[in-house]
Amino acid sequence: MARGPALLRRPAALAVTVLATVLAGCDGGPYPQSTLHPTSDFAERIDVLYTTIFWWAVAVFVVVELILVYVVIRYRARPGQVGRPKPVYGHTVLEIGWTLAPAAILVFIAVPTIQTIFQVDGTPPPDALEVEVIGHQWWWEYHYPEYGFRTATELHVPVGRPVLLTITSQDVIHSFWAPKLGGKRDAMPGRTTRLVFTADSLGRFLGQCAEFCGASHANMRLAVIVDDEATFAEWAARQQQGPAAIDAAATVVQEGAAVFQRVREPANHSCIACHAVGGVAYGALGPDLTHLADRAVIAGGILPNTEEGLTRWLRDPVTEKPGSLMPRVDLTDEEIAALVAYLRSLR
Ligand code: CUA
Repeated sequence: MARGPALLRRPAALAVTVLATVLAGCDGGPYPQSTLHPTSDFAERIDVLYTTIFWWAVAVFVVVELILVYVVIRYRARPGQVGRPKPVYGHTVLEIGWTLAPAAILVFIAVPTIQTIFQVDGTPPPDALEVEVIGHQWWWEYHYPEYGFRTATELHVPVGRPVLLTITSQDVIHSFWAPKLGGKRDAMPGRTTRLVFTADSLGRFLGQCAEFCGASHANMRLAVIVDDEATFAEWAARQQQGPAAIDAAATVVQEGAAVFQRVREPANHSCIACHAVGGVAYGALGPDLTHLADRAVIAGGILPNTEEGLTRWLRDPVTEKPGSLMPRVDLTDEEIAALVAYLRSLR
C-alpha cells in the first residue's frame, strides 16, 4: 500500500512549510506593483470594492462548507443501511431560499461595483492636470498640453492634484497600468480612453503595458513619479525649455552632438530622423530626448540611464529590446562614447 506523501507523515515539517509560506507574504514590502497598496483615490476605491467582495466570498465559502460538512456527516451511509436514501424534490422553502440568497448577494456586490464605476469614471474636475498618454511599440509617450512639452517612460504628476490621462496608441493596442495608482486602461489607435486619479503619496510607482502588443510587450515599462507641488512645477518649467547649453570646453560632448546630428544612410540610422531635442532635432517617431538626463531609466524602462545602460542600448538596441524599431547603427566605440556623453548632458 502507498503510504501517502512523506510531508503528511511529519506534522512538524508540514506546519513549518505552511507557516513559512504564509509569512513569505508578510515581508513588509515594498510591493512595487501591488494593487493591494493603493496610493490614489482611484486605487483606494478599487481596493475597498475588492475587500467588500472578498468578504462576501468568504461568507459564501464558510456557509457552503458548513452545510456541506453537516450534510456529509449527518446523512452518511451507516452500517446496516438498506437501499438508497429518498431524495428531496420540490421543497418550496429550500427552492425559494437558494434562489433568493444568491440574488441578494449579487445585489450586495452589484450596488457597490456600479457605485465605484460611476465614482472612478466621473467627469474630471476642471482643475485636473491633463496628460496625453500615447502607447508605442514599445515605450510610453507623455504629452503635457498645458505646458506644451513631451517626455517618455516616466510620467510626473503632482501630489494631491487630480490628473486626467487621455490615453491612445500610435500603433497597436496597449494598456496603461500603474497598479498602485489605479486601474488598467487600454490604449487603442484612433480612440481615446480616460483615467482620472489623484495621487496621495509621494514616490516612484512602477507600472507596465498590460496588453500583449508584440515581441517586447514585457519591455514596455513605465514609472509614475509623484512629486510635491513645488518639485513638479520646477520639473515642468525645466521641460518647457531646451536642454542645458553645452560647455564649450567639453569636447567629447560637442563630438557627441555632432554624431547625433549626422545624417546617415539609410535615413532611419540618423538619430535626428526619429528623436527630438529641443532647438536641435525634431524627429517624432522615438522618445523626445530634450531632457533625457532627467530620467532614471531608458529604452521603455528596461535599462538604467547610466553610462553603461546607454552604451549597451546604443551598441545593440535590437538585442536589448527584441523587435525594437531603433535599429542597430554602425557606430565606432568612440562615437558611442561621445553620444553617451552628449545624451548625459541633456538636462
Ligand atoms: Cu504595449 Cu504590451
